[in-house]
This record gives sequence, structure tokens and C-alpha cells, in this order.
Amino acid sequence: MMNWIVVNDEKEMAKAGADFLLSRIINKPELLLGLATGSTPVGMYRLMIEAYRKGEADFSRVRTYNLDEYYPILKSDVNSYVRFMRKNLFDHINIPRENTHLPNGEAKDGEAEAKAYEAMIAEVGYMDVQLLGIGQNGHIGFNEPDDKLCVNTHVTALTENTVAANARFFDSPDCVPKHALTMGIGTIMKAKEILLLANGKNKHAAIEALKDDTVTTAIPATLLKLHPNVTIVCDKAAFEG
Ligand code: F6R
Repeated sequence: MMNWIVVNDEKEMAKAGADFLLSRIINKPELLLGLATGSTPVGMYRLMIEAYRKGEADFSRVRTYNLDEYYPILKSDVNSYVRFMRKNLFDHINIPRENTHLPNGEAKDGEAEAKAYEAMIAEVGYMDVQLLGIGQNGHIGFNEPDDKLCVNTHVTALTENTVAANARFFDSPDCVPKHALTMGIGTIMKAKEILLLANGKNKHAAIEALKDDTVTTAIPATLLKLHPNVTIVCDKAAFEG
């Protein structure tokens, strides 16, 4: 089931996303929350921080598990996702550091780290709510278009398209890591509820592919059509092109 919420712009998307997540945390203070990085959720994270500052939100019992991390990457690297999460959310709310989890980009053995991350998530019973952005090519997490997709957390090669899209954060495209650790399609689909955010014209093709009744591994986000409870909050530019 896909529930569509189409809003005017990025600001309204951030508000609708924050309201969605905050209501889930109020209902279940010990929420298992899957998080995403990238540009899309930044405004929403800002509103969540604001809600905390106003005393409207309590993150002290929430446990978070991020979708992905570059591999290999030092945690101290300005572009690591762990640094991104601290800067854009964790450092500004009352979530205990030990309640926040990301795949370890510094792990010596990536495959072993992927297995351990999946096992840790399986142990807690998978996410109550998983937040997703969407790539221009329809990737979710770093599950890139392919003939086959991985079910569980794994090490993956980033496509040229994704390296190019992410190069804006780095000194040059050569500096973008070429691999990542990511939750698999199965890890994502086992979440009880999924919230996907998208804004901007450059996401239109990917969003358009979510409207019909077909699925394809060539556009990984289409597999979300098989999930019983997905909410898509997107702005007009992403919805209409
Ligand atoms: C980030 C992630 C990616 C992004 C996607 C969109 O953790 O898993 O799938 O959600 O690449 O990125 P932005 O939001 O930068 O357009």
C-alpha cells in the first residue's frame, strides 16, 4: 500500500516528514527508527531538533539504525555518514550515543561488518519505521539498479550515476568512495512502516516509476509496492516533474 502525500515544496515536505516521525515517537518512545542521510532529510531533521528544544519531543529511548555508510571511510572524515548524522541530528537531541547505530565504515572486513549489522537489526526485530530518500536512478539505501538485488545488509559498489550525484559533497568525483555498506532490500522491507521523502524535479523519473502497478530491480524503489505500509511525502516538482 502506497499512501501519497503531495506537498508544495521542500519546506512542507520537511514539516510533514517531521510530524510523521514525531507522532510515531510519541506513540512509542522506544521506537526503532531507521534513518537516512543525504540532502533530502536535512530540513526535517532541523524541525525534529526544534521540537526537542521546545520540549515537544523526547529521544531518550529511541534507537536508530542508519541505512548505509560509505566503505571504507574514516568516521572522522567530513563526508562519513556517522559525522553527517551527528552534525545534522544526534548532537542536538537527547538521544544517547549508544542508541545510535550505523554500519562501521572503518571495519577491516566489510562483509563481516555487513553480517554483524544485519544480525544486530534482526536481534532487535527490525525497524518500526524506516525513513528513505530516493536516488535519481531509483536506488534506496545504496541498493543500486541491477539484475539482482541483495536481501540483507551487504557491501556494494556505487554506480557512476551515484558517485556523480554525491560528488557535490567531495573535492572531486575521484574522492567519492566507490563502495558502501547498506541495508538490503529485505532489511528495508521488514520495517513495519516506511516513510519515503523526495523533493525536486531531478527525482521526478524515480517518483513516476512508483505510480504504476509494476516492480523491477532496475528501479529498486518499485519493490516498495510490495510493502503493506509505505507513505511517500513528495513535493510537486518531484511528483509532476
Ligand atoms: C542515504 C541513502 C540514499 C539517499 C539518496 C538520495 O542514506 O540511503 O539512498 O537517500 O541517494 O539522496 P539525496 O537526499 O541527497 O538526494
